[in-house]
Amino acid sequence: MPHITFIHPEGKSGEVQENLTLLEAADVLGFPLNHECGGNASCSTCRVEVMVGGENLSEIDFEEQDMLDREALTEPYYRLGCQARILGDVMVQVREEKWGNTQAATEKGSNTSGG
Ligand code: FES
Repeated sequence: MPHITFIHPEGKSGEVQENLTLLEAADVLGFPLNHECGGNASCSTCRVEVMVGGENLSEIDFEEQDMLDREALTEPYYRLGCQARILGDVMVQVREEKWGNTQAATEKGSNTSGG
């Protein structure tokens, strides 16, 4: 089975079934990606940057290319997680800024040492 790695401070890696999308694989590994449009290639919130193994992903189809173009994501390493299917080992980076709503960084109990 292909090995997928999500590079992120809270990212995960593991083996997943071939032909899953990156979005589905992330979910399987307990690392759900944002996907505001529900995986319909119309929001780009699921985008990732492919670091290694781009050739092990399905080819970009018209809908994915159209969405990437509209968001000016023209570098070839950008893929939509909901469209790219895993055919072999791959390593992708997930930008931390996409995760602002999942981790409410609340600081509490900040003690200061005194005297
Ligand atoms: S989830 Fe919206 S484009 Fe992938």
